[in-house]
Amino acid sequence: MMTNKEKYQYFEKRSKEAELGGGVDRIQKQHEAGRLTARERIDLLLDPGSFVEFDKFVMHRTTDFGMDKTKFLGDGVVSGYGKVDGRLIYVYAQDFTVFGGSLSRTNADKIIKVSKLAMKNGAPIVGLNDSGGARIQEGVQSLGGYADIFWLNTKASGVIPQISAILGPCAGGAVYSPALTDFIFMVKETSYMFVTGPDVVKSVTNEEVTKKELGGAVTHNTKSGVAHFMSDDDTQSIMSIRELLSFLPSNNVDPAPQKKCGDPWDRMDEKLMDLIPDDPNKPYDIKEIIHSICDEHYFYEVQEHYAQNIVIGYGRLGGKTVGFVANQPAYFAGVLDINSSVKAARFVRFCDAFNIPLVTLVDVPGFLPGTVQEYGGIIKHGAKLLYAFSEATVPKITLITRKAYGGAYDVMNSKHIGADVNFAYPTAEIAVMGADGAVNILYRNLQGDDLKRTVDEYKDAFANPYKAAEMGYIDEVILPRETRKKIIQALDMCKNKSEQSPPKKHGNIPL
Ligand code: HXC
Repeated sequence: MMTNKEKYQYFEKRSKEAELGGGVDRIQKQHEAGRLTARERIDLLLDPGSFVEFDKFVMHRTTDFGMDKTKFLGDGVVSGYGKVDGRLIYVYAQDFTVFGGSLSRTNADKIIKVSKLAMKNGAPIVGLNDSGGARIQEGVQSLGGYADIFWLNTKASGVIPQISAILGPCAGGAVYSPALTDFIFMVKETSYMFVTGPDVVKSVTNEEVTKKELGGAVTHNTKSGVAHFMSDDDTQSIMSIRELLSFLPSNNVDPAPQKKCGDPWDRMDEKLMDLIPDDPNKPYDIKEIIHSICDEHYFYEVQEHYAQNIVIGYGRLGGKTVGFVANQPAYFAGVLDINSSVKAARFVRFCDAFNIPLVTLVDVPGFLPGTVQEYGGIIKHGAKLLYAFSEATVPKITLITRKAYGGAYDVMNSKHIGADVNFAYPTAEIAVMGADGAVNILYRNLQGDDLKRTVDEYKDAFANPYKAAEMGYIDEVILPRETRKKIIQALDMCKNKSEQSPPKKHGNIPL
């Protein structure tokens, strides 16, 4: 029989063994591939010394394929809770050194345990994914484990923030849980997401494609829009997660953390007076206005590389988190298309679910015409943004800086779909369409001086904010220099806003 001292020593030995995961050789391989281990990642994510681990000694129970002879303490996932900036966070990190981080039944149960605790205790959950998908040796048990996680992801959606980092090659089931979460972080040279890898693609479609082209960070941050952030390495990615968390509330009831703000709420910005070009067809960078509005000019952009004709992200105004949605005239004239509509709609819904007020900046020539867009379903996808803004009950402030044409005027958080305060610069142009297009339709045969005179007349009549201000659709015309002050005042006025939607099971957003 062991003495107590021996029992303590045995416990410490097992604990150390668990911490080595798949062993020193595999850890070295992981490092050589430019990736950190699961434990190193958790240490970086959480405040020093705050990690509390669960299920360190859990092992799989499979006997097929000789698996009873290959067991690892912890079974390929490290899970538990800790703090980020002193706030409670739940975390799990898949350990690629154990069966390629693949998901077993017991491995799934560990993830489910922390996910349930996160929901019950109202704290975000961060999943650090590095996994070859379903553990092949476990068959349907693994598939069941995945489905249980997907179901919980769906239940937790809109209740607690769910954040996923993809930090290695993630295949099959390993991509669907992240896809159900709110934000996906990827790393440039070392992370991949695909439903099926290049070999399967080749055998089914005969396409030759590399892992990187098919599912690398650049692909998902620029082409597919699946991912939201791209970093150079694991460390940068995990630091970025910490920063995102600093903007988010812990759950759908608590307020977002407030930061001390030394930036005067009524700071004027003369530079903005020269930002909008006299020529309405010349671009300018809408981010200059966003930066100018934000405390200390700091803006944390989301999906920076995707559908750049719309800008989304977080800033703080007077120390409080605000979500920005802004057309970007510097990219594709800020037009609304399928990708930008879907990108912004998902962001608006996240902000609304977590009580983050929305500030919308409008400079949009309309929806992008053409067969590519129509066949791709721009009607349905544009409607997503319309739906998202319409259903959002958080404080909603809109500023039209220049163009607000056609349906895009309505969609971009207009007064009519529930904005609380609508501002416009004197440079705003609010009309069914631009002057040239409108005159061309109304007076098809005009030419030369007559055409020019009529276009000028149209511009004088409609290319300004005053028709909309006459109707009360614009509450106030403001000068660019006072943008920050006006928006902070409006948000402060709306801070106790309470708006109830009619009772329903849930709406039917045009998916
Ligand atoms: C069990 C796995 C595994 C898996 C990898 N390993 N994936 N073990 N189940 N799914 C093991 C390997 O056997 C190897 O063990 C170790 O992990 C490292 O894998 P390597 O292949 O050596 O690493 P690498 O070359 O970096 O390639 C990583 C990989 C590749 C791209 C992830 O392993 C791969 O393609 N795996 C299979 C991916 C896949 O098709 N998964 C199933 C998806 S279906 P040793 O002992 O040799 O070191 C699915 C269904 C759910 O997930 C769907 C729900 C919607």
